[in-house]
Amino acid sequence: MDQGDAPRRCRDTDCDEILRGLEASQKRLPSKFFYDERGSALFDRICELPEYYVTRTERAIMQAHAGEMAQMLGENVRLVEFGSGSSVKTRLLLDRLDTAAYIPVDISSEHLHRTARELAQTYPTLPIQPLVADFTEPLLLPEESSESRSTAVYFPGSTLGNFEPAPATALLRNIRALVGNDGGLLIGADLQKDQRELEAAYDDAAGVTAEFNLNLLAHLNRDYGATFQLDAFKHLARYNTRHGRIEMHLVAQAAHDFTIFGERFSMRADETIHTENSYKYTLESLSALACASGFAPGRTWTDPAQRFVVQWWRGRKQSQCMAQAA
Ligand code: AVI
Repeated sequence: MDQGDAPRRCRDTDCDEILRGLEASQKRLPSKFFYDERGSALFDRICELPEYYVTRTERAIMQAHAGEMAQMLGENVRLVEFGSGSSVKTRLLLDRLDTAAYIPVDISSEHLHRTARELAQTYPTLPIQPLVADFTEPLLLPEESSESRSTAVYFPGSTLGNFEPAPATALLRNIRALVGNDGGLLIGADLQKDQRELEAAYDDAAGVTAEFNLNLLAHLNRDYGATFQLDAFKHLARYNTRHGRIEMHLVAQAAHDFTIFGERFSMRADETIHTENSYKYTLESLSALACASGFAPGRTWTDPAQRFVVQWWRGRKQSQCMAQAA
């Protein structure tokens, strides 16, 4: 075996996470590995699927209420967006907001800077300060200008739902520290609903979500030297009512062996690899989460069918929290 064929050695945290997940009795792989170039393109297609109500419902809420949201955020606000991607929904806010600066935060440098350049053309006088960072870690923001009166974080897309409860609370507490007592968080979250509607959203008729799920294995084969046989797996999405979450799995259709980082793994027929959780909230559970992370839940905007919610959480001093949506 020459150098090029040698199995990749396990040297970093990605590798630890992958091996720990595959060694567990319920095999799992981190959902961050969905998002290579092809996975990001597939996710963009998911957002336009008829079954995937999430994106268009949130967009409609923003279109209807961005003016009121801007009022809540206040004047001369420094707006920090987590996981900004192409900042589509943000434009609805920026059009109405008295913004001192806009700080889009994303792990993908190329995407972030392209979006910042595009936004600069529409908002030539707005200071745009793109920040390449992993927002699950505490952030160091650029120095605040004297004009800015408060900091608000915008965290749309129900991205929070892809975090387990403890890391979700830790992330929200980091945001709370970032915005202080005068700022707040504008958050978009997906709501619990009929099981069939939820499962269809994650198992569409055109098979795009199935491709997205299987692409995780293709990504590990290409970039981490894994030997998954893609046609040995089928996509599964099911709603776990006890935990209030959609679970995505890859189900082995027959006994299957694969290697990664020089380790060999065996799967039985019907054994699954758990690839994603997408938590769905109630207005009450979301308010409780706000309180647990040091915020006070404020204005709530939903669509008529209550599929999705956008909520304003104020930074608060101790003991100001009512665990109920206003
Ligand atoms: C990115 N995230 C909010 C999506 C979700 O709905 O949990 C990821 C996704 N997975 C399958 N479809 C969409």
